[in-house]
Amino acid sequence: MKVTIVGAGAVGASCAEYVAIKDFADEVVLIDIKEGFAEGKAMDLMQTSSLNGFDSAITGTTGDYSKTANSDIAVITSGIPRKPGMTREELIGINAGIVKDVSENLVKHSPNVVLIVVSNPMDTMAYLAAKSTGLPKNRVIGMGGALDSARFKYNLAQAMDCPTSEVSAMVIGGHSDTGMVPLIEKATRNSLPVSEFLNAEQQSEIVEATKVGGATLTKLLGTSAWYAPGAAVSEMVKAIALDTKKIFPCSCLLDGQYGLNDICIGVPAVIGKNGIEQILEVELSDAEKEKMKSSAEAVRKTNGLLD
Ligand code: LAC
Repeated sequence: MKVTIVGAGAVGASCAEYVAIKDFADEVVLIDIKEGFAEGKAMDLMQTSSLNGFDSAITGTTGDYSKTANSDIAVITSGIPRKPGMTREELIGINAGIVKDVSENLVKHSPNVVLIVVSNPMDTMAYLAAKSTGLPKNRVIGMGGALDSARFKYNLAQAMDCPTSEVSAMVIGGHSDTGMVPLIEKATRNSLPVSEFLNAEQQSEIVEATKVGGATLTKLLGTSAWYAPGAAVSEMVKAIALDTKKIFPCSCLLDGQYGLNDICIGVPAVIGKNGIEQILEVELSDAEKEKMKSSAEAVRKTNGLLD
């Protein structure tokens, strides 16, 4: 099992660290354009192997895609992160060219790869990667929902004063401050609806806090978050590597599901060795349907900037 991570910045390096610690990959290749940076991160991470007890071999390269050849899975984190006050959509001008180039280079050296796109604006970047590589649609996945759902579960657990392991909850829709659709009506604490524990006002506060979860952290950190993004990607990589068939909300290229066509947007999917094994069309309430519709309109508007 060979995993390539493009971009050795905070999110890429955090992903590499979690993948290594989870110890399911034989090889992890970090690649970055900044001279020596990926090599340095790889060496630093490898020096934790005796401490953290993993056997994955992590190597780094400055831009040499031949080192990524025959990767089973590749994660794209390259491009710039947002600064406080910016939306993810504002990154498109710089990130689109980078993501297109990176995806094409990856597929050239690893024709059977499953791509996971993390760069923002993520849904549009996943769409761009799918279109520019022509990969089958099950092999291009956008990572957003796994992260947004983790933040949603954290917010719910905090409010209910319970462990996050008791909470089951999902965020679908676009990975943006306004486009996320946290499915609060379906969220549970140990199989009980969260409405047993939280009143309507508390629920709506949690939904709103979840939608701007990334922006809140960007304001605190001065740049985009990395631990939860890295952990979320590593869980998806693990699901593919070990063919776990776990459900993740993630950005998938749709052809008719949820009434949407030719768009990548967050929906629940079963993830396994083929990438997206199955897209699940769950019954949405009228309010959720409406939110999903306007989320898709916003993603389409951003996709329009690619032309
Ligand atoms: C975030 C970035 C990774 O939400 O989109 O933190």
